[in-house]
Amino acid sequence: MKSYRTIFAALALVAVGNAVAQPPVYLDDTQPIEARVKDALSRMTTAEKVAIIHAQSKFSSPGVQRLGIPGIWCTDGPHGIRPDVLWDEWEQAGATNDSCVAFPALTCLAATWDPDMAALYGKSIGEEARYRNKNVLLGPGVNIYRSPLNGRNFEYMGEDPCLTSAMVVPYVRGVQQNGVAACVKHYALNNQEVDRDHVNVLVDDRTLHEIYLPGFKAAVKEGGAWSIMPGYNKYNGDHACENSTLLLDILKGDWGFDGVAISDWGAVHNTEKVARNGLDMEFGSWTNGLNWGASNAYDNYYLAKPYLKLIEEGEMSTEELDDKAARVLRLIMRTEMNRNRPYGSLNSDEHYAAARRIGANGIVLLKNDGNLLPVAPSARKILVVGENAIKMMTVGGGSSSLKVQREVLPLDGIRAMAAQKGVEVAYERGYVGDVSGEYNGVTTGQNLNDGRSAEQLIADAVAAAREADMVIFIGGLNKSDHQDAEGCDRTDFGLPYGQDAVISALVEANPRTAVVMLTGNAYAMPWLNKVPSVVQGWYIGSEAGNALADVIFGEVNPSGKLPFTFAVDLKDYAAHAAGDAEMYPGVDGDVKYKEGMAVGYRHTDRLKPARVNFAFGHGLSYTTFMLGKATLSDKTLPADGNVRVTVPVTNTGDRAGAEVVQVYVRDVKSSVERPLKELKAFKKVIVAPGRTVDVELTLDKSAFAYYNADAKRWEVEPGKFEILVGTAADAISSRLSMSVDAADLAWKD
Ligand code: BGC
Repeated sequence: MKSYRTIFAALALVAVGNAVAQPPVYLDDTQPIEARVKDALSRMTTAEKVAIIHAQSKFSSPGVQRLGIPGIWCTDGPHGIRPDVLWDEWEQAGATNDSCVAFPALTCLAATWDPDMAALYGKSIGEEARYRNKNVLLGPGVNIYRSPLNGRNFEYMGEDPCLTSAMVVPYVRGVQQNGVAACVKHYALNNQEVDRDHVNVLVDDRTLHEIYLPGFKAAVKEGGAWSIMPGYNKYNGDHACENSTLLLDILKGDWGFDGVAISDWGAVHNTEKVARNGLDMEFGSWTNGLNWGASNAYDNYYLAKPYLKLIEEGEMSTEELDDKAARVLRLIMRTEMNRNRPYGSLNSDEHYAAARRIGANGIVLLKNDGNLLPVAPSARKILVVGENAIKMMTVGGGSSSLKVQREVLPLDGIRAMAAQKGVEVAYERGYVGDVSGEYNGVTTGQNLNDGRSAEQLIADAVAAAREADMVIFIGGLNKSDHQDAEGCDRTDFGLPYGQDAVISALVEANPRTAVVMLTGNAYAMPWLNKVPSVVQGWYIGSEAGNALADVIFGEVNPSGKLPFTFAVDLKDYAAHAAGDAEMYPGVDGDVKYKEGMAVGYRHTDRLKPARVNFAFGHGLSYTTFMLGKATLSDKTLPADGNVRVTVPVTNTGDRAGAEVVQVYVRDVKSSVERPLKELKAFKKVIVAPGRTVDVELTLDKSAFAYYNADAKRWEVEPGKFEILVGTAADAISSRLSMSVDAADLAWKD
């Protein structure tokens, strides 16, 4: 009897004999991607090329059916995989297999200050995207925290370019190892939601390159992002999607981006500009379609028939089109047409574990007088107060809204852990904020109505507080309009719904009151001096309640650090300091970043007294750390451009914990004005109680550079520098001097 192997060999020969053995190059995934792209492109008609560069539905574009090339399916992003929508609607389709795990908001991820957490996040969300057959994940977001009023700050990673860059790279790589493209957004300068479709940002070149671009650059150059999303706003008079400086000069020129620039949804306005200036794909437009609002206007997208017409009439050559189509094909080869990519997984135990771990690692213990937290073993009765303890936060807030398989509410997480410890938990509402819970057809199903008056709610909470061993207030913002939500900014730095009064009344009734805030933004804290413990809890997603309980009960020792400054007042942020409408929200369509680089701590560092409640990089632990004297490997920047900073970190408390060593650089004397210090390296390290770990960090030459806008290059000026080592922007324990001798240390992006 013949073996199976012999039969297969015979069949293969027959196939070769019939000349069907060799697939065309573009279908052959043993061939290099560039050869496949070239081959596919050579087989396509002009009309087919135009067809693959614009949408065919809300979130998809067609491939080339004739050639068997699949299309692209995008999904939001950036905290979980959005429910499927109807073909041409934003409304969810009502499928029953599209619930997901909600991972913590990106502010929480950034607050871990741990690139390993970003890698875990990227890998996990990428697996969910892959399982759901999406090949572009619309995220992560890396816009810099310029104003605490920006409604979308929760989708971004804070105020500092070094932190943002370090966190975005592993996220992107983690997503893409699944054969799913990350789409980094919103490129660039999309720092407010007010007038977001048209606001024209005017910013000097140095600030652009030093503050607002590094996160994108890192995602592209180090992360190897396969796509990027030019945003809605304008820069220097041109919409980001039509902006040759941003797209052609910087992204594709300086950074050598070989991926796809995908428009934000409806961010395209002009065929010729968008065709010439570097955008590759158009999504979400409401074209006037030569017939406004026609239900399927896709053929009339700016990069559809109108573009084809320009080409056919000889107004434009096919050069740009070939480049766009090649990029789209490359993305398809990297994702859908990569037969070796993994299969992904959805709602797995591993993903819930990742969400909980990242969440607990990102929670920031801001204040903890008298070690009120973690909950003392002697506590028998805890009172939880506040709407955010019982409100689902994964529904709402705009495009990042999700349909979760499950969401553990803070109160439920606390109750579950308290039960294990024999602690009784009572609950009082305290205030009524936003009782809605619907987004694009996804409803929370929660009935949060409460008919009591504000006075009665406070009175009831106060009465219960008097009976409790300790009180945990869980409030903050939420995902409704003018809170932490897309499409509009906050109107006020203060907390909404009279929460300040509730907190003050509670702490008066029971001084053992801890405040836990779930927000994606900083806020006023008029009660701060009276409250012993404050926790910044962000939006944590599916595992919110469990992650919070982990920290509140001390199962996890908090190690999160603020990714942005918690200033005292709105006017302590430079964009708002002068109350100048030209700086925020803009006048006559222009918003001027007159503060330049004075963003976050780069601004508050110059204020005397420092007007911060909690500085950038701040975060406490249930143990204590001491940083010893830091040392430098060199007193002068060596030829290879690398200096090592070493600092001993001692855990002086009685439980294991993690500390984040932060290294800031100051140019002592420079020909241009520079911030008083800038974060250039950081490392999170776990230290056992009583032990000391030597932490080593490397500063490369870029840590000393500034962007010379005239020469369009990075330059290091010879002279003295200070290296500041510490655990927060306002907690510097070592100041070391070194110098740079080399003249002419300069490079292009
Ligand atoms: C948002 C993007 C989002 C897109 C698709 C836009 O309104 O700005 O962040 O990815 O919609 O939902």
